[in-house]
Amino acid sequence: MTTIDATEVALRPAVERELSRARADLEQLIRIPGIAFPEFDHAQVDRSAEAVAALLRGCGLDTDVVRAGGQPAVIGRRPAPPDAPTVLLYAHHDVQPPGDEALWDSDPFEPVERDGRLYGRGAADDKAGLMAHVVALRAFGDALPVGVVVFVEGEEEYGSASLADLLRLHRDKLLADVIVIADSANWDIGVPALTTSLRGIVNCVVEVRTLDAEVHSGMFGGAVPDALTTLARLLATLHDDAGDVAVEGLVVGPESTVDLPAERVRAEAGMVDGVRFTGTGPLADRLWTRPSLSVLGIDAPSVLQAGNALVPVARAKISARLAPGDDPGQAFAALRDHLEAYRPWGAAISVTLAGGGAPCVIDTTGPYYETVRSALRAAWDGVSPAEIGVGGSIPAVSTFQAEFPDAAIVVTGVEDPDTQAHGPNESLHLGEFGRVCLAEALVLAGLARPTG
Ligand code: BES
Ligand code: MN
Repeated sequence: MTTIDATEVALRPAVERELSRARADLEQLIRIPGIAFPEFDHAQVDRSAEAVAALLRGCGLDTDVVRAGGQPAVIGRRPAPPDAPTVLLYAHHDVQPPGDEALWDSDPFEPVERDGRLYGRGAADDKAGLMAHVVALRAFGDALPVGVVVFVEGEEEYGSASLADLLRLHRDKLLADVIVIADSANWDIGVPALTTSLRGIVNCVVEVRTLDAEVHSGMFGGAVPDALTTLARLLATLHDDAGDVAVEGLVVGPESTVDLPAERVRAEAGMVDGVRFTGTGPLADRLWTRPSLSVLGIDAPSVLQAGNALVPVARAKISARLAPGDDPGQAFAALRDHLEAYRPWGAAISVTLAGGGAPCVIDTTGPYYETVRSALRAAWDGVSPAEIGVGGSIPAVSTFQAEFPDAAIVVTGVEDPDTQAHGPNESLHLGEFGRVCLAEALVLAGLARPTG
């Protein structure tokens, strides 16, 4: 404790001094719409990678933009001083698409501050995660006490397809004792968190066909099934009447140790008055440690285009979030078997995998994690971190676990309950961002001290 206090005294003002420049750099990054989804302009992802590379070079890191068949990642390195550990700092520079721009109160790619928050796509997820790494490095200047590798991925939001190849190709450059993943959330404004599990994900598209082509709905309706009603019946089999997942073969994880207050979840999700929760059991279990199934989209004639004809074919995108301990391949097989077995009115059904990522569990015992806990506590003025599960996914965590099994993985981040990552009006709480930066600098300082 005494050593961390002394380090903190020196680092606090150093971090503080860096925040306004970091804010300007963050704004420049937000102006680059680097979206890895196929229908977007990938020249912007390249620009984004170059901007990240310039920031890392500015921190004195030996920096390369690299790719392995996907979108560009950036690796910046600085070797460890003798006997000091090496820390890998992860973030992603790609962002989610903006969605319906009419729902934003300001341009998603033109940052604006309102009430202490900086608004813009990627302002939090995850350009602020990257900037936390940059601020921590800048705060040390030339006196960095550990080796660092900064790894900034360019396609996290599109499923990290080339990540494993990138980690294998650059393995020697990426070896580290500790891996800090800055892409998760804190518990609340004023309360930090250490993430101990994340759900996995499997997306698939189910296509239902009942007819060769449209036919008159009056001539045939009543005896001949339309594909959209058939699809609706099929989708209705995914849950039981209480709203619990009804697909057999999906892993159910252990019970959570924390619970989430219902009113908090209701408010954060923006549930319409009168709408009830789905499923049974503690909300933390339903959101963090059990599988969930959601329908994300449907291809069928729009209401405007719909004539009096039976729909011959319809498709739905189904998204499964997987409990810690599940496997995306097995989960996809379970979901496919369920959909193919239940075949309303004998319809032709095909199920196609549309991406996935593994869940993870992080064992946070041991001296490295104690260092992280005291750094978070110091940066939040004595408030201890909550140990939380996360319902979202960071497939990179399990990929790092598989490729670097000896490294201690720390999952933290800048998001807070009001961030609205992936939604309209995503924002970063600037005060909390300062604490995240200080915590990270304290982590680097703490890791440099021999543990024992
Ligand atoms: N930063 C999020 C993960 C996250 C969400 C952490 C909520 C903490 C709270 C990450 O960028 C993300 O959204 N991941 C995708 C992964 C997918 C594309 C494979 C997700 O969860 O949808
Ligand atoms: Mn993210």
